[in-house]
Amino acid sequence: MVTKIGLDLGYANITLSDVMAEIYREPSVALIYKNARPDARRVISVGEEAVNSDGEAIGGADGILVRPFKNGLLFDQQLTQEIINNAIKAVKPAENIRCIVGIPSDFLPKQEKELFSMLSEAGVDTSLSVVRSVAAIIGAGYSPSISVISVNVGAQSTEVAVMHKGEIIYLSKSAIGGEDFDKAVKDYILKQGDVNISLQVARAIKERLGAVWKGKPNDSIDIEGTLSLTGNRLRMSVATEDIVGVFEPPLKELIDAIVDAVKRIPADMCADIVENGIVLTGGGAELYGIEVLLSKVLGLPVTKPQGAIDCVAKGLSRINGFLPANLKLNNKNITNQISKYYEGSKK
Ligand SMILES: Nc1ncnc2c1ncn2[C@@H]1O[C@H](COP(=O)(O)OP(=O)(O)OP(=O)(O)O)[C@@H](O)[C@H]1O
Ligand SMILES: [Mg+2]
Repeated sequence: MVTKIGLDLGYANITLSDVMAEIYREPSVALIYKNARPDARRVISVGEEAVNSDGEAIGGADGILVRPFKNGLLFDQQLTQEIINNAIKAVKPAENIRCIVGIPSDFLPKQEKELFSMLSEAGVDTSLSVVRSVAAIIGAGYSPSISVISVNVGAQSTEVAVMHKGEIIYLSKSAIGGEDFDKAVKDYILKQGDVNISLQVARAIKERLGAVWKGKPNDSIDIEGTLSLTGNRLRMSVATEDIVGVFEPPLKELIDAIVDAVKRIPADMCADIVENGIVLTGGGAELYGIEVLLSKVLGLPVTKPQGAIDCVAKGLSRINGFLPANLKLNNKNITNQISKYYEGSKK
């Protein structure tokens, strides 16, 4: 028996899905000792446990939380390995694990090789890769042969894949993501009230109160910050209506990235693609009303599937589900062959 899983390694979250679409999601962070020399470094904990060890930002006086991916690329092997090991533990002691891992569209072959070898180290028997924005469409419940624009908004980046009848005709990655929305909240609160808040607090405000279209019920949240002049601590309350309009600058960047992709669609493919429009996934898509706003501004249908944040991982495990059990490939990128395998599985 093959244990088929999908794994999405994001800057903010590592998400694993099995073929039943059971989701395991943890922050992709490791807690390490702040002053350890790089060669003597030891990971204290990873994931949720690391985040919860001491509030959000630091793990006590001696610890520091580190995210080992930047712009979707690995920059710290040791920490990445620990985070991957921890995720794969969720399906252990299963044997014969076949994992499809999501990769950014600009992943270099060298990085892909490193990732495959880390998966093997973590106990994965067979590893394959698929570009995340393509997997996201399948995770949203569509056939791989669809014509559509996939927009996956992560924490640090947005990836756009334009698909026509199952072929990828355009792929792009832009450095705009959920963190830019956090920064917009932080900057706004500093400008309005001379109060400094951490990016973690800004993120909490965004996730709880953020809205870019009307209809979100009013709510408020108590936060802590420091007065920028004196450095004195201050508690204050922020309400939904206080942050209306805050997200305009990052939204504009997001819209520009999508428009760039739309402009590149060849005229003869336009009708098919425009009919289905955009499928919006990733944690950034969870912002209230973003699908309505994008649809109005771009004049295209925009669909936000349930559980948009987990669509990449779900898609990867679904793809794994329709690959033949006796597939002989290992350590290969199969993005361009998904439609073929899908059609084959229906015969
Ligand atoms: N309800 C919400 N409203 C707004 N933003 C949200 C909400 N829930 C999650 N997010 C944002 O989603 C982002 C995380 O999304 P996701 O897990 O898709 O990122 P990632 O895959 O780890 O990042 P990347 O794809 O850039 O490597 C964070 O910026 C988070 O604040
Ligand atoms: Mg992502």
